[in-house]
Amino acid sequence: MGDDKKTIFSGMQPSGFITLGNYLGALKNWTLLQDEYNCLYCIVDLHAITVRQDPAALRKQSRDLLMQYIAAGLDPEKNIIYYQSHVSGHAELGWILNCFTYMGELSRMTQFKEKSQKHAENINAGLFTYPVLMAADILLYQTDLVPVGDDQRQHLEMARDIAIRFNNIYGDVFKVPEAYIGKAGARIMALQDPEKKMSKSDENKNNTILLLDEPNVIMNKIKRSVTDSGNEIVYRDDKPGIKNLMNIYSAVTGKTNDAISEEFANSGYGDFKVAVGEAVVAELEPLQQKFKELSKDKKYIDQIIKDNTAKANYLASKTLSKVQKKVGFPPKVR
Ligand code: TYM
Repeated sequence: MGDDKKTIFSGMQPSGFITLGNYLGALKNWTLLQDEYNCLYCIVDLHAITVRQDPAALRKQSRDLLMQYIAAGLDPEKNIIYYQSHVSGHAELGWILNCFTYMGELSRMTQFKEKSQKHAENINAGLFTYPVLMAADILLYQTDLVPVGDDQRQHLEMARDIAIRFNNIYGDVFKVPEAYIGKAGARIMALQDPEKKMSKSDENKNNTILLLDEPNVIMNKIKRSVTDSGNEIVYRDDKPGIKNLMNIYSAVTGKTNDAISEEFANSGYGDFKVAVGEAVVAELEPLQQKFKELSKDKKYIDQIIKDNTAKANYLASKTLSKVQKKVGFPPKVR
């Protein structure tokens, strides 16, 4: 990473199987940015344990997620793809940044409010300080750009605030990162309840399309998705179901909303749903095929993990040493 390319960092929680929302809001954009930037794409397992996880399932989901990154088109030679728990700098910087973050700002985070309602039996301190660890992830690599879905906007703002606050005290230590939020795919909604976002932890399986769902499952879920009683394919707030399907179709095909309305001017919802389903299946089939191949090649995946972890650790230690020095920790004696 000695060139003058800018740096990208982003990540996903291995807290379940990833959805079409994760793909269209984040992963697909990552694959489009990999040539122009130096990119780090993390599997954020430290974040995942803010909610109780089954250990064996978490391990499998983490590895499956890493393979889905690659299957989606991220080149492991060009991008640094790794597990957050393998680079201790995340947790170390997270601690330091905790001491530069206020309880008041953390308690305003929408995601914390939502998750503490959903997991009322387990409102742990990690859930509360989650955005600080996320800031550490980003700031650790002097990141310029963070490609995420719209739901991460508030966390990104906080990472910027923490960076600016720290820099004001100690000089220019951190790059202040910018969010990169795509258009059509930024907020994909639940298929049966298009007023709420599609989420990998949703208990209603008909709300989500998983990246690894079989083609006929994808078709059926889209055909069954909730729409209003009309029949026009137009992009309007009072038609949240159709709006969501148009977002999906647009994110997959690159077509504008006007072009989509025109294409389906003489069709009803049924035809439109079939077209959306077919487009999604066509988009995901090559990914699923690649995923199957990668699953058989344990040695190759292990080598990727080994090489990329070393690269991430090297970069992380550069920022971490600088921060440790700035705050006044004694130098290491070698
Ligand atoms: P996570 O695992 O919830 O989601 C991963 C990515 O998918 C996006 N996303 C969506 N985009 C569109 N529509 C949806 N319905 C949808 N659901 C999820 C998210 O915006 C995200 O980009 N806190 C992060 C993980 C994280 C991270 C980071 C991200 C930890 N450290 C540092 C960027 C930089 C999260 O929970 O993502």
